[in-house]
Amino acid sequence: MEIRLEGLEETKEMGIKLGNILKSGDIVCLNGELGAGKTTLTKSIGLGLGVTDYITSPTFALINEYNGRVPVYHFDVYRLENVEEIYDLGFDEYFYGKGVCIIEWAEKIERLLPKERVILDIEKGKALDERIINIKGSGNRYIEILKELEKN
Ligand SMILES: Nc1ncnc2c1ncn2[C@@H]1O[C@H](COP(=O)(O)OP(=O)(O)OP(=O)(O)O)[C@@H](O)[C@H]1O
Ligand SMILES: [Mg+2]
Repeated sequence: MEIRLEGLEETKEMGIKLGNILKSGDIVCLNGELGAGKTTLTKSIGLGLGVTDYITSPTFALINEYNGRVPVYHFDVYRLENVEEIYDLGFDEYFYGKGVCIIEWAEKIERLLPKERVILDIEKGKALDERIINIKGSGNRYIEILKELEKN
């Protein structure tokens, strides 16, 4: 499924819509070059999940935790040097935990992620504020999320 977002307002709407759909245990992978809009989209997904704290990029911390309707774990694995480190960092407990995981640069650790996941590839469009989101995934939950996103 491909979604064209013409500006920040549309990114916000899409993020909130996805956030509304998500539930405990869901994993959202965000891929796309520097400045593609992964953190920007995460902020809106957070709103849809009921996070009231201001979401900031976890680039240095690698993970930030928020309280929403369910716990929200926001990862940025860009700086991870050795992907196996996610075990030392205890990330797998989050991946199989009760919260929603949102992972920037997820493609770096793809082979270590659970099968049940939604993948959003973000690309810059022709216009400055345009973004193209390609939604993929694997598992049953992904199909459900896609159906919900396609509504209206
Ligand atoms: N439609 C849009 N959706 C998302 N971001 C947009 C859009 N239009 C413009 N932008 C801008 O693009 C930038 C995206 O930055 P952001 O930090 O979200 O990217 P990122 O993918 O998280 O980068 P990094 O890889 O450094 O973490 C922001 O300055 C944002 O305002
Ligand atoms: Mg970011």
